[in-house]
Amino acid sequence: MSEKKLILKDPGSGKELELPVKESTIGPGAVDLGKLYRKLGYFSYDPGFLATASCASRITYIDGEAGTLLYRGYPIEQLAEKSTFIEVAYLLMYGELPDQEQLTSFQNIILHHTMLNENLKKFYGGFYHDAHPMAVMVGVVGSLSAFYHDSTDVENPRHREISAQRLVAKMPTIAAAVYKRTIGEPFMYPRNELSYCGNLLRMMFGVPCEEYEVDPLMERALDLLFILHADHEQNASTATVRQAGSSGADPFACVAAGIASLWGPAHGGANEAVLDMLAEIGDVKNIPKYIEMAKDKESGFRLMGFGHRVYKNYDPRAKIIRDVCHQLLNKMGNTHDPMFELALRLEEIALSDEYFIERKLYPNVDFYSGIIYRAMGLPNNMFTVMFAIARTVGWVAHWMEMMSDPAQKIGRPRQVYLGPGKRDYTGLDQR
Ligand code: CMC
Repeated sequence: MSEKKLILKDPGSGKELELPVKESTIGPGAVDLGKLYRKLGYFSYDPGFLATASCASRITYIDGEAGTLLYRGYPIEQLAEKSTFIEVAYLLMYGELPDQEQLTSFQNIILHHTMLNENLKKFYGGFYHDAHPMAVMVGVVGSLSAFYHDSTDVENPRHREISAQRLVAKMPTIAAAVYKRTIGEPFMYPRNELSYCGNLLRMMFGVPCEEYEVDPLMERALDLLFILHADHEQNASTATVRQAGSSGADPFACVAAGIASLWGPAHGGANEAVLDMLAEIGDVKNIPKYIEMAKDKESGFRLMGFGHRVYKNYDPRAKIIRDVCHQLLNKMGNTHDPMFELALRLEEIALSDEYFIERKLYPNVDFYSGIIYRAMGLPNNMFTVMFAIARTVGWVAHWMEMMSDPAQKIGRPRQVYLGPGKRDYTGLDQR
């Protein structure tokens, strides 16, 4: 805590309270309101956490005005260009880039824990035939605690690490099985000699009756998307994982809660919603109509993939993904993907419109990611599942950080009560 203090005066009682300011390494510090209620009798009120830091963290930093994203201090652009998802996973989970020995060992651990308990697979058959893949993900990941409970003592750092590694390792196998179930193909076993993303591609697009060759272009594109989606500080799903974990809950159940939160269209579900929206717009000539609808609050329509709580500038991840879209579609010989062209035109028109300029609404990470997933052959309802695989790294990194933080307490918010005052019960005949 710094020497800086904020002085708050309650005009009612005339009481003054000195509130300490917790400084950050970069970016704004936060006023510590811990004593507010005890000293002045007020709670703080900030729905949606517009100005509330829910914790202190050393993992990821975002400067929303500048459009900057750092993982453990490293700019996302450098990691996207030079690193791999597995290396980034190590960085987020352990705090530093690994040396060769650490990287090899981590990679081996992750790649050798990809199999699922055979009994767990029976769960997939129990879901309704057209269940959304994210619904199945919530159920299957939540049930991991019923299979891997030999290392779920959350007070034990080694147990925490094992659970975190298991989650990162098994998520692609779980997700690929979700996909195979929707298309009625047999589940594929993982292959330890493949890379994290190569393995996932094979488990999704391969079949047991023939060899599958991993396309290096797809493998790299997927790896890159996963790097960009791996963490984003206290977003809704990560905050959910922390909140669930703050009671000492089982890590698999906490991550299932994170998946549920990610599913929403205002969060990770936006990548699916963007493609649905582009399909609905259908043609460049319809864009003005949809832009007008997005500006009209009565319409209930928003431009999906636009706007962000923190970024008031172009989302740096969207910039990278936009370029990858170009490269990937060109290399695939799909230079005129109508969806991509529609997206580019929509972006161009929206960015020159006063409504979007005034509100600093720019394309976010989800605006272009679905186009890449679609080019890879994935159906729209699998896009958020892909996001969940990558974000698992962020979720477990934050959960481990929280569990080892001496300042950690159960997350128990207060409320401004607006219901009726105390009153007496009336019998049925008096109502
Ligand atoms: N289309 C039209 N208007 C918008 C949009 C949009 N996509 N986003 C925000 N606005 C308007 C909003 O109506 C409000 O206008 P006014 O000031 O006149 O009332 C203003 O911009 C501020 O919006 P807000 O809802 O107060 O902003 P927020 O920080 O609470 O919400 C958001 C952020 C991401 C939920 C929102 O921008 C949104 O719904 N975007 C579409 C969904 C989306 O793309 N989500 C993915 C987010 S990035 C990836 C991730 O987190 O997983």
